Amino acid sequence: MTRNHPFLLFLLLLLTLFSDAAHGFGSMGPISAAFGEDGFFCAIDASGRQTVICWSTKRAALVSPPASSSLVNIIPPMAALSGGEGFLCGILANTSFAHCWTNANPGKNLVPPAYRTTAYSHIAAGKAHVCGIRGSYYSDRDSGTVDCWDIVLRSSNYTARPGGSILMYDQSISNLVFRKVAAGEGFSCGIVREGGIVCWGPNATGLGISAVADSFTVLATGKGSLCGVLDNSSTVKCWGDNVLAVDQPPEMGFTSLTAGASYFCGIRKDNHEVECWGIYNSSQIPKGSGFSAIASSDFSVCGIREVDLVLDCWFTGTSPIPSYDPPLELCSPGLCTAGTCGAAEFSFNASILNEPGLSSLCLRGVLSICSPCGTNCSDGFFLSSPCTNNSDRVCSRCSLCQNTSCSTVCGLPLLRDMQQRHLREQRRLLLIAGCSASGFLILLICSFLMTWGKPVPTGGDAGKQFRFMSCLGKKDSKERTNDHEFPPPLASIPSVGLAQIFRLVELKDATNGFKEFNELGRGSYGFVYKAILPDGQPVAVKRANAATIIHSNSREFEMELEILCKLRHSNIVNLLGYCSEMGERILVYEFMQHGTLHDHLHGGLSPLNWTLRLRISMQAAKGLEYLHKEVSPPMVHRDVKTSNILLDSDLVARIADFGLIISSEKDLNDDMKADIYNFGIVLLEILSGRKAYDIDYSPPDIVEWAGPQIRKGRGAAIVDRNVTLPRNVEPLLKLADMAELAVREDPNERPTISEISSWLEQIVKDGLVY
Ligand SMILES: *[C@@H]1O[C@H](CO)[C@@H](O)[C@H](O)[C@H]1NC(C)=O
Ligand SMILES: *[C@@H]1O[C@H](CO)[C@@H](O)[C@H](O)[C@H]1NC(C)=O
Ligand SMILES: *[C@@H]1O[C@H](CO)[C@@H](O)[C@H](O)[C@H]1NC(C)=O
Ligand SMILES: *[C@@H]1O[C@H](CO)[C@@H](O)[C@H](O)[C@H]1NC(C)=O
Ligand SMILES: *[C@@H]1O[C@H](CO)[C@@H](O)[C@H](O)[C@H]1NC(C)=O
Ligand SMILES: *[C@@H]1O[C@H](CO)[C@@H](O)[C@H](O)[C@H]1NC(C)=O
Ligand SMILES: *[C@@H]1O[C@H](CO)[C@@H](O)[C@H](O)[C@H]1NC(C)=O
Ligand SMILES: *[C@@H]1O[C@H](CO)[C@@H](O)[C@H](O)[C@H]1NC(C)=O
Ligand SMILES: *[C@@H]1O[C@H](CO)[C@@H](O)[C@H](O)[C@H]1NC(C)=O
Repeated sequence: MTRNHPFLLFLLLLLTLFSDAAHGFGSMGPISAAFGEDGFFCAIDASGRQTVICWSTKRAALVSPPASSSLVNIIPPMAALSGGEGFLCGILANTSFAHCWTNANPGKNLVPPAYRTTAYSHIAAGKAHVCGIRGSYYSDRDSGTVDCWDIVLRSSNYTARPGGSILMYDQSISNLVFRKVAAGEGFSCGIVREGGIVCWGPNATGLGISAVADSFTVLATGKGSLCGVLDNSSTVKCWGDNVLAVDQPPEMGFTSLTAGASYFCGIRKDNHEVECWGIYNSSQIPKGSGFSAIASSDFSVCGIREVDLVLDCWFTGTSPIPSYDPPLELCSPGLCTAGTCGAAEFSFNASILNEPGLSSLCLRGVLSICSPCGTNCSDGFFLSSPCTNNSDRVCSRCSLCQNTSCSTVCGLPLLRDMQQRHLREQRRLLLIAGCSASGFLILLICSFLMTWGKPVPTGGDAGKQFRFMSCLGKKDSKERTNDHEFPPPLASIPSVGLAQIFRLVELKDATNGFKEFNELGRGSYGFVYKAILPDGQPVAVKRANAATIIHSNSREFEMELEILCKLRHSNIVNLLGYCSEMGERILVYEFMQHGTLHDHLHGGLSPLNWTLRLRISMQAAKGLEYLHKEVSPPMVHRDVKTSNILLDSDLVARIADFGLIISSEKDLNDDMKADIYNFGIVLLEILSGRKAYDIDYSPPDIVEWAGPQIRKGRGAAIVDRNVTLPRNVEPLLKLADMAELAVREDPNERPTISEISSWLEQIVKDGLVY
């Protein structure tokens, strides 16, 4: 499906450069996108509360309410979502009423008063209008007449047209009963209860659709186009828009569809991978992973991965790449419905998430999420268990293939070869057993022998090579190019160097099967787990999420490892070891007993006095200084924030979550200046005790709030009054001035980290007088 035709790419470029308006609209689902300049994504989370989480290209503009804050009710729990241009609509989980909002003002409901107390079973947002099918969402999903209302954009404010829709008013459809509806630019289409599709609105004629009698299950609309999934064959049929007409949909089954600016994408019925058609950049579309739901903005697609319910976003347009960096929250794989699931569907079993107290992802326990079962797996995976009525078919990596049942689909060598490899494996295991019995010295000799005993690369193994990883102190075989290898032996092999190589099973055991994902939170890299090693040592285990694995290759991982394991400083969280078996990328770090600075300042952890706050500021600055100035090549952090500053058992600050992207020389200086800016925000949070973005303050942005006051010499006004002030507040005012310099708009006015670090050192040395 990849389109690399120069003309099409040129067209794509034109579209990206000159498109001022949104083009694609989603169909209703658990994840949806608002289009256009103010584009953002929202999804229903997997907490069982059906909370809506949102993300946009600008992190600061996140409307996602943190679980414990007073913002929780800004976007009420939703049953389903659908995105228009610059706004999103949903059906309220408790009442089935419609609710529409923008990212800039999530608290304002854009549904006109006349429609606010009508229950809807289905909703679709188009460019400037919304249509809903009447009926209660959970009880009568299959029928209802349609209401439409307009959403008007006037000098960057969205409002509802009080009387409903002028745009979509059409007497001829007012008595039709619909099952599903979709909305585009100046038109709407619906699946009529009796079968067939009816379209109306001023631009409906442009679709060239007439007298459609086929039965459809899914509809999605582009700017001037419509695609639907046929009930009987699951294949797709499209109408309208000449841009898309050049490229008809692929001949395969789909379970859901979404439209972007110049393309449609869908989830394949067989393996649940994403397949697109039209004009788009295919370079980032994930291969080898299935999705349970997807949504597209103009030029980015986000989806909920079926294996772990983690969000993944990728770009489908031309540069410059807007980065929709989704939060690491688990999301609901589908919509909650009443009744039993249909044939070839499974009901999602929430207990696989192993979250205490979570028995259903739906607000009401009697509801369930029904999703279509996959029938096949992606390349490199085999079908290891079939679909049942409460679990989807399971796909396993071909590296786990043990017998003839999967050797064909995995393209594995003949069984005889496999048995021979198995024998060799057993010999290695025996050697290991001998090793552990005879002490460390012998172990060293044994591991040397083991390297000898490894299978000699032949045929299909040709890509395999041994690479010396300098600071890891051990010869490591590159295995990812050849995923067909059996899992290595089950003992951890201590390395001679600084970092240790851990076995996957060992980490699985230590983390209770990677299930306690709430234990330490979620970093940019993936989930972080607390683990207790067999010797009783607590460690933090960072497991790369799918997005990280997809967006970096194994060579990059090794380069990162090589850099990370050379770093060592008392103000950073140091790497202890890693594991890279079976496509996993896992880093093992020192465990930080006292949690994050964020939780001490804003969360439930003990508050910090001023002596500690100043010391922590200095220590964090020193950690950052180490990365910026003392390591070679220099490193930038790129995500300096209070939740990435951890406190160890002595309450010493340590910088965490750095160094996962290797920066180019060119960007280094800019990125360092960005780190300084973010460090300035950290200092402001330490000083004021308020969060970086908090709508209980005006303005909500801490820089806009504190900056002017400090510049006017009123730094004392921002100092946190919840902790006892020292008798002399001069050191705190100095800290305020320093923070203000760090958050200067002009990067050249910001100090270097070394300057900040030595100023802080002086302040700490002078001490505070209480
Ligand atoms: C439904 O939920 C909203 C927001 O959570 C709340 O304001 C409203 O009172 C609820 N309505 C009912 C009938 O429970
Ligand atoms: C748009 O909203 C802003 C603030 O929300 C307000 O100041 C401005 O007057 C509004 N403009 C119009 C035309 O309503
Ligand atoms: C109909 O489509 C054209 C572009 O094809 C667009 O300019 C116009 O605004 C649309 N009409 C409505 C009512 O949205
Ligand atoms: C699906 O329905 C269409 C028309 O309704 C028909 O032409 C086609 O043969 C059907 N396909 C299958 C596989 O039944
Ligand atoms: C496709 O996207 C990649 C980034 O994912 C970008 O580097 C590349 O330039 C894009 N291709 C085109 C033709 O714009
Ligand atoms: C969900 O899974 C758990 C454990 O895997 C099992 O005990 C339970 O019966 C399942 N629930 C349903 C409804 O099948
Ligand atoms: C299942 O997927 C594999 C790998 O993608 C492919 O080789 C095989 O033909 C597919 N089988 C069916 C029945 O579609
Ligand atoms: C699941 O399927 C089994 C038989 O395959 C059936 O007995 C059971 O009632 C089904 N459960 C549900 C909830 O549909
Ligand atoms: C093949 O191995 C799998 C486990 O990997 C097992 O469940 C299955 O029964 C085996 N099949 C045969 C034919 O031995």
